[in-house]
Amino acid sequence: MPVITCIDDLKRIYKRRVPKMFYDYCESGSYTEQTFRENSTDFSKLRLRQRVAVDMTGRSTQTTMIGQKVAMPVALAPVGLTGMQSADGEIKAAKAALAFGVPFTLSTMSICSIEDIAQATNAPFWFQLYVMKDENFVDAAIERARKANCSALVLTLDLQIIGQRHKDLKNGLSAPPKLTLPNILNIATKPQWALGMLGTPRRSFGNIVGHAKGVANMASLMSWTNEQFDPKLDWTKIARIRDQWGGKLILKGILDEDDARRAADFGADAIIVSNHGGRQLDGAVSAITMLPRVVRAVGDRTEVYMDGGIRSGQDVLKALALGAKSTFIGRSYIYGLGAMGQEGVTRALEVIHKELDVSMALCGVQKATDLTRDHLLVPQDFEGNWA
Ligand SMILES: Cc1cc2nc3c(=O)[nH]c(=O)nc-3n(C[C@H](O)[C@H](O)[C@H](O)COP(=O)(O)O)c2cc1C
Repeated sequence: MPVITCIDDLKRIYKRRVPKMFYDYCESGSYTEQTFRENSTDFSKLRLRQRVAVDMTGRSTQTTMIGQKVAMPVALAPVGLTGMQSADGEIKAAKAALAFGVPFTLSTMSICSIEDIAQATNAPFWFQLYVMKDENFVDAAIERARKANCSALVLTLDLQIIGQRHKDLKNGLSAPPKLTLPNILNIATKPQWALGMLGTPRRSFGNIVGHAKGVANMASLMSWTNEQFDPKLDWTKIARIRDQWGGKLILKGILDEDDARRAADFGADAIIVSNHGGRQLDGAVSAITMLPRVVRAVGDRTEVYMDGGIRSGQDVLKALALGAKSTFIGRSYIYGLGAMGQEGVTRALEVIHKELDVSMALCGVQKATDLTRDHLLVPQDFEGNWA
């Protein structure tokens, strides 16, 4: 068993063990990848204030998200195709999250279905919805999530049209991978991954095949997904979904103060400041840069979470200090999953938890909920001086 001390260790093993097509799918941003890169590098512009001679016993990273207790202010973000990173990947990630005490969010574009997760965990989880043109599909997905006891609906607003990721086109990304010569040669070097995949029946989009009208095989699935994201999604449609769901609603993909105010007026239970991990609007500012503006815009009218670029507990601490109530991680847990399955997700959570806990102590903070901007040194131009 390799010694894992940081998220980067998991990423290195992940790169060795998972087919290139799926590594590239995860490790890409759209177009020039500027936003993808800056999501991470902008965290390093912030500095932590080292404080001493403060009692550091009795620390706690616990908090709540939409009223639910969580072991630390980190949830697993919805990530499409997770079950291609490791066989039954969504089930493994959901189990790791449950054991750790943090929320797991299942993507609409997952390999394991809503029902698979409900059956495997027997506990509430969160479901992320993409709004599709096919209203019957959307309605049925909401009903399925309700039946599966999902305790929040995470509605993603920043992907009604897909930002191009060059590598996915060049690699001919698909689930399952097409058996072309380059793919076969590459998969031959990933025996553990291949064995896992041979051992599960779950190798395509579990929430779509058999649930969307006219989608029964790979060819129809591809054309369905490419055409289905609804470009007409607006606040009226969001209201329709809210009324139909009737439970906790989290709006994901807010990066602008005006949109944040609108979401708060609308009565969202929470918003996620996010640019989809730099996979959509390349050239947008990093999520951590926009966070303080959004927090000022909404005050305490809705809970503010953020994601994008978090690779350590120090990053989580910085986001909380800038006003986020909690955070989501995407790639950080996918690296763990691809590297070591369920145990790798657990390792990712442990690494981030320990880093957060130790960094809090060294900042003289006992409770994650006590973090404020006072614990940071923020460059004067951090939020940018945009005209
Ligand atoms: C490979 C990959 C697939 C993703 N798929 C989805 C998805 O299906 N639905 C969604 O709302 N967000 C999706 N996201 C965005 C994540 O939910 C999250 O916003 C992002 O990963 C955060 O950035 P980070 O990876 O730097 O932590 C995806 C991200 C990645 C990396």
